Amino acid sequence: MTRTEVTTPEALPEERTAEASLRPDRLSEFVGQSNVKESLAIAIEAARQRDEPLDHALFFGPPGLGKTTLAMLIAREMGVNIRTSSGPVLEKAGDLVGMLTTLQHGDVLFIDEIHRLRPQLEEFLYPAMEDYRVDVRIAEGPNAQTIPMTIEPFTLVGASTRYGMLTPPMRARFGLVERLGYYPAEDLRQIVLRSASVLEVSIDDDGAEEIAKRSRGTPRVANRLLRRVRDYAQVRADGVVTREVANAALSRLNVDEYGLDDMDARILRTIIEKYDGGPTGLSTLSVAVGEDAETIEAVYEPFLIQQGFLERTPRGRMATASAYRHFGFRVPQGLGDGQPSFFEDRSGG
Ligand SMILES: Nc1ncnc2c1ncn2[C@@H]1O[C@H](COP(=O)(O)OP(=O)(O)OP(=O)(O)O)[C@@H](O)[C@H]1O
Ligand SMILES: [Mg+2]
Repeated sequence: MTRTEVTTPEALPEERTAEASLRPDRLSEFVGQSNVKESLAIAIEAARQRDEPLDHALFFGPPGLGKTTLAMLIAREMGVNIRTSSGPVLEKAGDLVGMLTTLQHGDVLFIDEIHRLRPQLEEFLYPAMEDYRVDVRIAEGPNAQTIPMTIEPFTLVGASTRYGMLTPPMRARFGLVERLGYYPAEDLRQIVLRSASVLEVSIDDDGAEEIAKRSRGTPRVANRLLRRVRDYAQVRADGVVTREVANAALSRLNVDEYGLDDMDARILRTIIEKYDGGPTGLSTLSVAVGEDAETIEAVYEPFLIQQGFLERTPRGRMATASAYRHFGFRVPQGLGDGQPSFFEDRSGG
């Protein structure tokens, strides 16, 4: 397994079952993101008291931070069923009609990657979201007609890694709009401890902290690293994940101390080595590192910026002094440090 496979924040194909078993099923077990949790708890409680469906909710943010988990939690907390689909999978209005007309009162319809929904489907959803009505088309050609059909009041939960790509009318139809940010190491440490107890892995606090620090601010990565470290502990140590064991296992996997993966490193090194630290335009960078511009923007950059390795300026992307130092380059004079990292903030304390 290469470092990229271990630390990529996007889900690996074989990861689905493992993830399902580690999903908290109550809001109280969902670690961190206290603002999001608080708004949701209030909205859920209020909706339940009024015996109404929850307002339509939209979660956005980088991969692996808990958007799908929250959608499932909502259904669980509201005591309703959830149906799941995703923007790229839905092709025609008929696909949505089938789902919408079979929903029961208060059910959740979860649409992942909602920014990739086709425009006609988006328009089809508007009356469903606003008036619980769908306009069903009968017959085609000159005799085409649409008849309005009433559906049960429901909750649409949308998830997206690209808030900027959602159309304004779509955004405006969500009552709850919540952004998920990267998790501080302390939250990730708790997530690792919780997952270890679900998986029955023996781990101490230091072991959990070591995994947390290298998890790219992402629960999905933390859980994945825990599974890898567990294997190592079982085979090479006495089964207990301590700091030493975690360190040894993670070094073997080439996970660096910040959890940066190969693509993170390639992006920063390219800006430093090929473009003298930048500014470099996104499309130039995309060609140079061989990664899709959209993915660079939605998956890699937010973390590098948050960690203070990269800056987005009007003229393009720039490597910060921390990035130069991290890769052992001499820092050019007058170069800023970017935002301090939340991991650095906590060291020594
Ligand atoms: N706050 C949290 N507490 C505990 N576990 C979490 C939390 N957030 C995420 N996880 C775990 O991390 C994994 C990934 O979460 P999830 O699938 O919800 O991410 P996502 O935001 O939907 O990602 P994607 O954008 O790739 O769909 C899951 O196994 C989930 O249980
Ligand atoms: Mg998801």
